[in-house]
Amino acid sequence: MSIMPIRLLGDPVLREPGAVVTDFGPDLERLVDDMIETMEAAGGAGLAAPQVGVQLRVFVYDANDGAGPRAVVNPSVSDPEGSGIYDEGCLSVPGVFVDIERPEAVTVRWQDLDAGWHEERADGFYARVFQHEMDHCDGRVFLDRAERRARKDALRRFRELVAPGQTSYVPDGSAGRARERAL
Ligand code: NI
Repeated sequence: MSIMPIRLLGDPVLREPGAVVTDFGPDLERLVDDMIETMEAAGGAGLAAPQVGVQLRVFVYDANDGAGPRAVVNPSVSDPEGSGIYDEGCLSVPGVFVDIERPEAVTVRWQDLDAGWHEERADGFYARVFQHEMDHCDGRVFLDRAERRARKDALRRFRELVAPGQTSYVPDGSAGRARERAL
């Protein structure tokens, strides 16, 4: 297992939709292992493949429900219901948190590492993480869903926090779970 550099907002890879996964071999398992290690080193609750420069519809997450980190392949969401606001962050926009409105509950569908399909109703933090990571797989980031002024403020804070020209960082484990809102 190895920790991968996390791409920062501004890297074009975050704007390219991921490709559908068709090869469920050892390479995919290795990628997922590395992504979980990277997410944990960064203290995040979710990490999508485009954030580590891989154009695939894959993400890992930890919903803080005691079940530990899990992998999701070829995700989709449907049947949105209700709406909620949550102070969201993202490992590709470190140190910046913004209120984001999203459906409170959705039906989520995905494949596991053995290509088996799963579908269930999700709500709360699980629904929130799933939708945030799903956006990454579509080439979107959470700030796209922020109100205009909040997005402007967030981008200003981000530019202050990141060195000029910096396009990635290697998480060193020092964050602990302090960034558990970072998806
Ligand atoms: Ni994110």
